[in-house]
Amino acid sequence: MAERPSLVEVRAQRASRPVLRPAATDDIPALVALGRAVVPPTYGPIDAAYAQRMIDEWWTPAVFTRSMQTNRHLVAEVHGEVVALSSFGRLSRSYREFPYVDGDREVMWKLYVHPDHHGRGIGSRLLAEVETLVEGDELWLEVVDGNDQAFGFYRARGFTEVERSSDGQWPDDVWMRKVLR
Ligand SMILES: CC(C)(COP(=O)(O)OP(=O)(O)OC[C@H]1O[C@@H](n2cnc3c(N)ncnc32)[C@H](O)[C@@H]1OP(=O)(O)O)[C@@H](O)C(=O)NCCC(=O)NCCS
Repeated sequence: MAERPSLVEVRAQRASRPVLRPAATDDIPALVALGRAVVPPTYGPIDAAYAQRMIDEWWTPAVFTRSMQTNRHLVAEVHGEVVALSSFGRLSRSYREFPYVDGDREVMWKLYVHPDHHGRGIGSRLLAEVETLVEGDELWLEVVDGNDQAFGFYRARGFTEVERSSDGQWPDDVWMRKVLR
């Protein structure tokens, strides 16, 4: 028979289980640091200049401050440290322009897990949480062409490719959608 874990082991296990919670402005420095840890290994192999542009343009305190006014943000914490982020909201409330998209959509803008914590179910939990919180019955997201690991992750969770947008300069964006209810 397997030995029962000691009280100390049970407490340690509970403490290392990620806690999901809404993000607050106090988290912004940790979110910027998360971007610096996860963006280069994700996008560097696809296009190093694009990875740098993402960090410089989209993972800054100013962008998070603005984004928190219109989008919802969830973080996962382990031992009090932010290790993952998801954000979502309406496309029409975004500060970015999407001239090639028809109509409005509910979009998960970010789902990023620190590389040290990949493959432990954190991304799946955050996505499931977004799916329960999102308004409407569809969830959309963009995946950068070539990010095969994320593409496969979303496919396995019910998303299908709908369209691609290309500006001829940077890697294409692949739009995926999941019908929720
Ligand atoms: C894509 C991503 C969000 C998934 O989050 P995650 O916490 O690693 O995902 P989970 O642990 O819930 O599930 C990962 C799946 O890969 C498997 N896996 C095993 N080892 C893994 C590893 N080292 N890294 C990633 N996935 C692994 C898991 O078993 C699971 O398989 P399943 O689909 O059969 O359930 C995360 O890998 C990530 O942040 N990637 C880099 C940033 C990125 O591309 N974000 C998406 C932008 S659109």
